[in-house]
Amino acid sequence: MMSMAANDEAADIQAIAGRGFGSLTGACYLLLRIQDRALAKPWLRSVDIASVAQARTQRLSQVCQMAFTAAGLRALGTEVTPGAGFDPQFIDGMAGDERRSHQLGDEGPNSPAHWHWGVGEQEPHILLVLLAANTSINSLAKDTCSAAVAAGCAVIGGNTPTTTTTPLGREPFGFADGVSQPEYDWSGTLTPGGARDRDYRNLLAMGELLLGYPNEYGFVNDYPAADELGRNGSYLVYRQLAQDVAGFWQWLARQAGDDDGAIALAERMVGRGLDGAPLLGLQSATITGTDDARNAFLFADDADGLVCPIGAHIRRVNPRSADDPQGRHGFVRNLISTLGFSGTAMHDAVASARFHRLSRRGRPYGPVVAPHAAMQGTGAGAGAGQESGLHFLCLNTNIARQFEFVQGAWVANAKFAGLAAEQDPLLGNRLPLAGAQPTDAFSYTDSGAWPRAIGGLPQFVTVRGGAYFFMPGLRGVARLLADG
Ligand code: HEM
Repeated sequence: MMSMAANDEAADIQAIAGRGFGSLTGACYLLLRIQDRALAKPWLRSVDIASVAQARTQRLSQVCQMAFTAAGLRALGTEVTPGAGFDPQFIDGMAGDERRSHQLGDEGPNSPAHWHWGVGEQEPHILLVLLAANTSINSLAKDTCSAAVAAGCAVIGGNTPTTTTTPLGREPFGFADGVSQPEYDWSGTLTPGGARDRDYRNLLAMGELLLGYPNEYGFVNDYPAADELGRNGSYLVYRQLAQDVAGFWQWLARQAGDDDGAIALAERMVGRGLDGAPLLGLQSATITGTDDARNAFLFADDADGLVCPIGAHIRRVNPRSADDPQGRHGFVRNLISTLGFSGTAMHDAVASARFHRLSRRGRPYGPVVAPHAAMQGTGAGAGAGQESGLHFLCLNTNIARQFEFVQGAWVANAKFAGLAAEQDPLLGNRLPLAGAQPTDAFSYTDSGAWPRAIGGLPQFVTVRGGAYFFMPGLRGVARLLADG
């Protein structure tokens, strides 16, 4: 495979595929609907989209990235069919049908019927990701917004852009965020696929991030290959997730009886310390593709979840080697049977965590309230009454195998890994299953080595909106915006 360092490729790939731009602490996720295609296309062509090559050689003071929903491609006059190579999930959309909503946990208060954006007239066509310094994001957003409106686009949610300047590095519950990220094989050293290539590693084939390259199975996913439309593109999943920070900490304090106990329990629910450190007692391990000590661990030596609960957030969304297809633990067999895969664990690589990684690019929003202040019901200050949450954005190439699998089979699934009655402790909607079976439990082992199970977890996170976007390479963008 040609090395991804090659400049012509790097000049084609949108910059956020390569990095998160943590130094640009202001962000705006501008959601647009095209009302007049003839006006919109020339303006969109004039938008300067930063590439990986630029980000490698220049210190960018602002970054703009562009992605399209299936409805947006149609509004631009592009035919969006599986025959053209588009991902079927992308074509259907995140809120495309009830079965998908059920699978993703988008029911009850999470239901698309309650979303602030994502369906009907509030379904976006285009996402512009704007990143800049805290001091300049508002003016960049305002100017871009006025230009969009002048070019026949409507800004979803009114014509006032919503920006976030919430400090990065911590999500609103107060935990370090952005700690574990997959690395991608930009220099072309991996030969993925094959029966012997099964170990957990953090270095992944380019085809897990970008369309047109071999993936972890060793082959190239279907993608819109004609006219270079899809090569170097990716699918961007965006979910706006509101977090009930006061509700979270006050519930934990009531459960635990005191502040320290609340923090210890929250750390078990996340699966990391507040500062991002692995839970004490996990054995360290050498993992290809990471040199960060905070990520040098596996769950293989903690098969029963005595240190990191089986249902903890980070263990669900990335079970690492705990579902090693050659594993010898009960968890493996439970997971595979839970997911409905038949055959022996030895020969089934499908459940391996490496095939379900996401490159996260989200940002927090809203006022920052420290855990102790949230427990006391104080601390929001000037931001009191304002919502906090996460603009959860991630990149992947196969929405069903990556985002939907993680969200549906691991986060929202009450029977994950042989557990009963518990969804992700942070993200679950807690709705009972058919037959009234509860999903609101969390089980863990406490510091005295006692197994504990708590019931009645409230819903802490509510979906406010979401959509699947196609984020083409720069040549793909030019192709989509050509003519007219
Ligand atoms: C408001 C919602 C959420 C909160 C508060 C949250 C919080 C966290 C925290 C504190 C971590 C550990 C630090 C880190 O590795 O960055 C983490 C990791 C992670 N989260 Fe979430 N998260 C949320 C939503 C989601 C969603 C919707 C997904 C995917 C469907 C997801 C996927 C991940 C992944 C893949 C990791 C890295 C796990 C690893 O490789 O160890 N998160 N999250």
